[in-house]
Amino acid sequence: MAAPSPKTWVRQPLGWLLLAALVAVGSAAVAHWRQPAAAAVLLAPPANFPAPVYEVAKNQPNEAAFELGRMLFYDPRLSSDGRVSCGSCHQQARAFTDGQALAVGVAGRRSPRNSPALQNLAWHRSFMADGGVRGLELQALAPLTSAQEMNTPLAEALAKLNANPEYRRRFAAVYGPGKIDTPQFLKALAQFTSALTSTNSRYDQYVRHEPGGALSADERRGQALFQAKCSGCHATDLFTDESFRNNGLDTAFPLDSGRAHITLAPTDAGRFRVPSLRNVARTAPYMHDGRFQTLPDVLAHYAYGVRPSRTLDPLLRQPDGRLGIALTEVQQREILAFLATLTDTELLTNPRFAPPAARQETNPRGMQLSAN
Ligand code: HEC
Ligand code: HEC
Repeated sequence: MAAPSPKTWVRQPLGWLLLAALVAVGSAAVAHWRQPAAAAVLLAPPANFPAPVYEVAKNQPNEAAFELGRMLFYDPRLSSDGRVSCGSCHQQARAFTDGQALAVGVAGRRSPRNSPALQNLAWHRSFMADGGVRGLELQALAPLTSAQEMNTPLAEALAKLNANPEYRRRFAAVYGPGKIDTPQFLKALAQFTSALTSTNSRYDQYVRHEPGGALSADERRGQALFQAKCSGCHATDLFTDESFRNNGLDTAFPLDSGRAHITLAPTDAGRFRVPSLRNVARTAPYMHDGRFQTLPDVLAHYAYGVRPSRTLDPLLRQPDGRLGIALTEVQQREILAFLATLTDTELLTNPRFAPPAARQETNPRGMQLSAN
């Protein structure tokens, strides 16, 4: 609930301050400065958000770079079979998940994990279910090069971009003349991914006392239950404390040891990054391996399905020795009602985050390119 720190403002160049101010007063100039409006969320987060972790100052929001990032995000030519883009596994209407238990990459290959929602990435300290990647820019290298996902070595991706006159022109317009290089490629992608913020669900409007921010009696009871029983891990208005925890899915972890995959510590076996629950009504199936099809299945897991193991989180051991979280059927329904208030249609429907082809009416050349 911390208010944005005044420091966040002081560090920004004057231009961004002015733009943010324009947005704040709802001036007629706002429409003209749409990308800076999105950037303003990163520079001056809403009152119920902490300051972002990603150093936005090192990759200053810029309309042309954002558009470039969007084009890269939706470009299947970056994959070895020319069919898989970032957007194949990260679809806007599903909060940038894909509806699959395990993600499907080139040639129908299955990733070992479920595609997570992409939202508020600028607030993440680490990425992936095991925290194996630290840094939003570097993160893109994992799916690009993974044999199960896009299967393209970085050098090959850069060669493809450098051979394409449209990309040459667009990169040059943002970063100056010369060859497209790795930092430019990763920074452009991060312009897009860092802009995928979710800060305007009905829940957000409710906690910020904004118009439209009403919760029903059921939803408020659900909120209180969530606070009492879930927020020990799904903490703050980011709905994650960013720790790695074992939430009792299995008794042993032969297929995916989670955090231990990175640290090699047996004490980390079966621990996974606590995911945000924003837009969770849209991101089925659930958990790192997509084992649960529905939210009622997830609630039933916490109520009756938690399984013992050495690393099971202490929050899931009740004082009387029973495992899981005590929840009646009615309470489960109330929590479900609350979780539905975390759906943020702004993220799910904002045309800025859609594939570029959907907005190409005014730019037939762009259309031609993405059809290649
Ligand atoms: C084949 C499907 C697939 C493709 C293609 C893909 N991703 Fe992902 N993405 C995943 C999966 C699965 C994970 C989770 C991996 C894990 O936890 O180990 C993930 C994780 C991420 C994360 C981390 C999110 C978090 O909360 O930790 C980001 C960011 C991301 N992808 C962005 C991208 C970008 C950018 C691209 C294109 C360069 C891309 N993805 C391409 C499936 C895919
Ligand atoms: C001990 C910490 C902890 C508590 C308490 C907890 N969770 Fe979780 N939750 C996790 C972890 C860790 C995961 C991810 C596990 C995985 O990826 O396999 C998770 C995953 C989820 C998911 C799936 C999200 C997704 O995108 O796949 C939902 C939904 C969820 N929790 C809801 C709840 C609710 C509702 C409560 C309270 C009744 C709760 N959790 C309590 C740690 C916790």
